[in-house]
Amino acid sequence: ASMHKELEKLLTTAKGAEQEISKKDFEGFKNLFHRFLQVKGPSVKWDKIHKPPEDLIHPYDKIKAQALPDSVAASLNKLVVVKLNGGLGTSMGCKGPKSVISVRNENTFLDLTVHQIEHLNKTFNVDVPLVLMNSFNTDEDTKKILQKYTHHRVHIHTFNQSRYPRINKESLLPVAKDLGMHGDHADAWYPPGHGDIYASFYNSGLLDQLIAAGKEYIFVSNIDNLGATVDLFILNHLMTQPKDKRCEFIMEVTDKTRADVKGGTLIQYDDKLRLLEIAQVPKAHVDEFKSVTKFKIFNTNNLWISLAAIKRLHEQNTMDMEIIVNPKTLDGGLNVIQLETAVGAAIKAFDNALGVNVPRSRFLPVKTSSDLLLVMSNLYSLDAGSLTMSKKREFPSTPHVKLGSSFTKVHDFLMRFESIPDMLELDHLTVSGDVTFGKNVSLKGTVIIIANHGDRIDIPAGAVLENKIVSGNLRI
Ligand code: UTP
Repeated sequence: ASMHKELEKLLTTAKGAEQEISKKDFEGFKNLFHRFLQVKGPSVKWDKIHKPPEDLIHPYDKIKAQALPDSVAASLNKLVVVKLNGGLGTSMGCKGPKSVISVRNENTFLDLTVHQIEHLNKTFNVDVPLVLMNSFNTDEDTKKILQKYTHHRVHIHTFNQSRYPRINKESLLPVAKDLGMHGDHADAWYPPGHGDIYASFYNSGLLDQLIAAGKEYIFVSNIDNLGATVDLFILNHLMTQPKDKRCEFIMEVTDKTRADVKGGTLIQYDDKLRLLEIAQVPKAHVDEFKSVTKFKIFNTNNLWISLAAIKRLHEQNTMDMEIIVNPKTLDGGLNVIQLETAVGAAIKAFDNALGVNVPRSRFLPVKTSSDLLLVMSNLYSLDAGSLTMSKKREFPSTPHVKLGSSFTKVHDFLMRFESIPDMLELDHLTVSGDVTFGKNVSLKGTVIIIANHGDRIDIPAGAVLENKIVSGNLRI
């Protein structure tokens, strides 16, 4: 009840159109907060968890073996591409939306997406629109940049996700004193995770608009996943499921390696496919969850979802996504929590949901500057906005790259490479400390470069480092 009062008080500080938006946001927040208060104990009983049955996880190879019918263009006309664009580039040391970071030949994540879809539209003479889910953090900057695509052959729409109040961990009341976003109040609000897509897409009116225009499915993915291109085979597979088993949701999963311990996995629970995130796992089972033997696959967050089903489930209020409680400490030291949901967590609510086990190449996220180095290098070639592994690489696996903290910020990273080294024959690279690379350096096999505190190592232009350790003044 005191939460309701606080929210009402906040609403009285709204100006003009802001009030309507905030009202809707608060309805969603109240709902989530109410569910949060009711939750007691873990959302899954460990012994009720089963491996997903084989007939519900379709191998991509089989799907790809089907010849594409002529109707694929008609299928494309029923598709909408949605990119999750609520996140900032903070972890890579950038201000503004993550999607505007340049990742390849001066192209940003957003540029690459637009090129891909434009290429599809031209090749098949279709109209696949691009929808960006922005947050209050990214909306303004994104919209400014979108102007440059006006003459491209792709219709771009945006909608804003909700803005929810962070709550004091002790009192469970909002930190905000008014709806303002500046000064002291800048960190009183947050975008509540990508699970918010269903409500905010619906509330924006865009969902209905797209259904009215004959669209049937969305392909959703993280904007920073460069492997998340529109796959015609998966699209065709989705569209050609038997009528009595109309598939409303496909989650692309991929085989887990020991480096992917964090990602959510698909399980069978109460006869439904369900996403199991590490946050839901009881402490005693965390190691088991992380192992690659029991849980072999993880969610790439590339999802194909029926628009009509989103509408139905949202109206019935039956998505029931598990709540992720994300604790934070604000700059002044105040402990707060923010309640979030994940888009994939709604899978259990959809009819005839499937997993498709896709090759690793469909999961190419750029989270760190080490990832950035890989995608900028000659390991990949760029074609119509899509990156593919270069044919010149002899093994299909990507090298392990670990760049130290002097490379974390994109700006610093760029200053340290005069040009991106040749990495075609690289297996493993570790760089730590104050290191710079001259033009046309070649890295092969395992290369370790460590500049100790106070030292600096400049790799000279044209150097070829093959199975080498370079450290301090010592060069082996
Ligand atoms: P995350 O920051 O959640 O990355 O953003 P992650 O940890 O790899 O992903 P998950 O949560 O485990 O899947 C993933 C994508 O979701 C968007 C980000 O912009 C990014 O594209 N996102 C995240 C939103 O659009 N809104 C949010 O509230 C959170």
